Amino acid sequence: MAVQICIIAGDGIGGEVLDAAAQVLRQLSPELTLVYAEAGWQTFQEYGEALPDTTLHLALQSDAVLFGASGSPSFPVPGYRSPIVALRKALDVYANIRPTRSLAGTTPAVDLVVVRENTEDVYAGRERIEDGGNTVITERVVTRRASTRIARAAAELARQRAATRPTRRARVTVVHKANVIREGDGLFRRTALEVLATYPELDTEELLADVAAMRLAQSPARFDVIVTTNLFGDILSDIACIHGGGLGLASSASIGDEYALFEPVHGSAPDIAGKNIANPIAALDCVAMLYDWLAGHGLPHTAQYAHRLRAALAVILREGPHTPDLGGTATTQDVTAQVLAMVA
Ligand code: NAI
Ligand code: MG
Repeated sequence: MAVQICIIAGDGIGGEVLDAAAQVLRQLSPELTLVYAEAGWQTFQEYGEALPDTTLHLALQSDAVLFGASGSPSFPVPGYRSPIVALRKALDVYANIRPTRSLAGTTPAVDLVVVRENTEDVYAGRERIEDGGNTVITERVVTRRASTRIARAAAELARQRAATRPTRRARVTVVHKANVIREGDGLFRRTALEVLATYPELDTEELLADVAAMRLAQSPARFDVIVTTNLFGDILSDIACIHGGGLGLASSASIGDEYALFEPVHGSAPDIAGKNIANPIAALDCVAMLYDWLAGHGLPHTAQYAHRLRAALAVILREGPHTPDLGGTATTQDVTAQVLAMVA
């Protein structure tokens, strides 16, 4: 089976860290076909589209996508839509999996995953302007279908994780704000709890989003799998990643029934773009998650590749070389060269 991976670097450091990822992919798994496509703010400025049809088609023809970052402006631009939000929807990769593991030696150890609903909520892009621009209505979409499948994805992941660690029971925390967003989050909460009730081996709890943020900052080791809606998941996963060494190390997988898309949690980082100092580890960990996904689909050797790559990253985290965000002076390419040498 010929497996094709679509590489979309995007803006800013997206290109730098995906260049590192592509080097590692080519060396470890030359049997995979890599195809390259463009998207992002730069692409919008050149072609008038942030996610050109050619890119979308190439992504849909591929088995999985590796995405760098898009630098979306925080002000309205006519015709512009975030390409990554559109791509997640087009591929229907509904479960955004964002793991955080504390660096070796940290106690108590943090090992948690935020499972973020990836296709609706306020990211559905349904906004209307009224009152001559003085009022904006942003619609927040929650469906039973999306709530059901995200809860199921969280439950299955919690079960898998517990199977690899006999001493700690699986716990799923449903995060919502149903006390205020009574209908929308009411539906999400009810649906998630119904799904989780069919998994008696999991401990299930619920937390309001604000309390969850506090607990996540204060006592992250208490969490196992957190399942929540899109916006809360976006924010909570950035809090969580502090405990794993920061944005330069935080990776994510967006998984659907057909496709998967892997992207670092960080953005285009305009403050450090073009300086060859972005930490490539988040993007390289995305490659490890891609190998896991391929291994789950029966692709030979990929479980081995994931293991070798993670082992190399663990040594580098302990011993260096480290980029400036981790207190070192190494460049993106120094770290990449070390990874290449270690997995050779
Ligand atoms: P950011 O994640 O790009 O950067 C936040 C801070 O973390 C910056 O100081 C940056 O230098 C640092 N940082 C991020 N990644 C790093 C890495 N690999 N190594 C070392 N340091 C790293 O978030 P920011 O600055 O708020 O947003 C910049 C642009 O990125 C915006 O246009 C935003 O819309 C976009 N963005 C895109 C995302 C995506 O494509 N999925 C996610 C988050 C932001
Ligand atoms: Mg984010």
